Amino acid sequence: MTTPLVIGMPGNDAMTLALAQTLDAEVGQVEFRSFPDGETYLRYLTDLSERTLVVICTLDRPNSKFLPLLFAAATARELGAAKIGLVAPYLAYMRQDRRFKPGEAVTSRQIALLLSNAFDWLVTIDPHLHRYSSLGEIYRIPTQVVHAAPLISEWIRAHVENPLIIGPDSESEQWVSSVAKDVGAPYTVLEKIRHGDRDVEITVRNPNHLKDRTPVLVDDIISSGRTMIEAVRLIRARNSTTPICIAVHGVFADNSDQLLAHAGARVVTTNSILHDSNVIDVTPALAAGVRKLEVSP
Ligand code: R5P
Repeated sequence: MTTPLVIGMPGNDAMTLALAQTLDAEVGQVEFRSFPDGETYLRYLTDLSERTLVVICTLDRPNSKFLPLLFAAATARELGAAKIGLVAPYLAYMRQDRRFKPGEAVTSRQIALLLSNAFDWLVTIDPHLHRYSSLGEIYRIPTQVVHAAPLISEWIRAHVENPLIIGPDSESEQWVSSVAKDVGAPYTVLEKIRHGDRDVEITVRNPNHLKDRTPVLVDDIISSGRTMIEAVRLIRARNSTTPICIAVHGVFADNSDQLLAHAGARVVTTNSILHDSNVIDVTPALAAGVRKLEVSP
């Protein structure tokens, strides 16, 4: 088996080095820059022929990342790479999983098609699987989904006394129930109605459940932050202990990290997307996912 070559797309340096080290792999050198008109220039400085490539690109704010990523895969193919895998710690567009209104684009399917045509396999962590039961429903390449729940549980066990695990909506129950079981703590799930991208209403069936213990909200994504902010408001009206908001993927659109701090919460995320709140390292989990997909050509 040849040593795999890890290629980091721009902005993924930390994860690229960490994964290469964990996989005992070589880091490939690539030059990326933009021409004055904004078009992408890309040049591989490492020989790719017959090599197995592990391309690292987390896909928050995906639109500007996508073309360079597709260029990187297509060029690697032209230069003779034997196999090209993608590690996308955050997989974008997964929430667009249905035509909610006539004429809408179901972009999760279209992204899946583009990535399936460009790459030989995909590893990601906790993609937003709500109306799809697995990535296999939309991806045509082998995929490995790794999970942050055991790592989140470990962090809570080590850092939070007397926690109450709280899911902000019914979709979060899959993470919350598993984390609560691991931690040996009770859990409750709030109810959410989304009126718009930035308009969320959160209610609780039994407010007494929120009174005691340290509130620990767990969700897959913080994007506009409205889900967490409304949940924090609801909890703080009933519990004086600082709530902790844990997300697998801290996308933090609209400066929602600052809004959450202002709302009185402590925010904790994994390093699937680089941010000051990263305290849970998912590198070993992603490396295990890559190993399962056989990195040998
Ligand atoms: C939705 O179902 C997800 O699990 C998250 O709750 C949601 O994506 C968070 O979005 P936002 O931060 O924009 O409220």
